Amino acid sequence: MKINQAELVISAVSQQQYPNEPLPEIALAGRSNVGKSSFINQLIQRKALARTSSKPGKTQTLNFYKLNEVFFFVDVPGYGYAKVSKTEREKWGKMMEEYFSNRQKLKMVVMIVDIRHDPSEDDRMMYDFLKHYRLPVTVIATKLDKIKRGQRAKQLKRIIEVLELEDEDTLIPFSAETGEGKDDAWRTIRSYIGK
Ligand code: GTP
Ligand code: MG
Repeated sequence: MKINQAELVISAVSQQQYPNEPLPEIALAGRSNVGKSSFINQLIQRKALARTSSKPGKTQTLNFYKLNEVFFFVDVPGYGYAKVSKTEREKWGKMMEEYFSNRQKLKMVVMIVDIRHDPSEDDRMMYDFLKHYRLPVTVIATKLDKIKRGQRAKQLKRIIEVLELEDEDTLIPFSAETGEGKDDAWRTIRSYIGK
């Protein structure tokens, strides 16, 4: 999909602030600093619409990006960053629960994991949380540019095993650096937003 229009509509911390427009939403989930914002930027071909950072914890709110008046990408704060206070973590949990548990417009969640490592305990909890709410999940195994070609199949298999990925869910190897996997990601997203 060629994106001509991309706009950050709101950075929300609670339900009352979510956009009211009748457009489908695709949310991003993943560990802090794994590459969620970079994924968005690569898909829509903007260098820095979604703010990225080499320091974890850059994204702190639910950021609703409206694309072509067709759908929203919702960039969410990452999990699993050790240097976060208990109060902050509780705030995060409440914000995530509020959004993921009863958002009719949410059609699918793109969960980003690092292809170099086995998914963490936090990744497993996130995946189970999403499946608990019966949300379709597309797992993006990112930073593909950082491993050798010969390692790919083995790492993808590990991700399926550790997350216990369900058959209806898709796994796509991806790199925000090279753009590899981008067409597959778009194809999957389009199937969920009906475009
Ligand atoms: P938070 O908002 O803090 O949760 O982080 P995030 O998940 O949005 O991560 P972000 O996109 O800010 O990326 C974190 C770091 O990883 C940045 O330095 C990116 O340049 C780098 N990065 C992201 N994706 C890739 C990739 O596919 N390949 C490589 N080599 N680096 C990547
Ligand atoms: Mg981010």
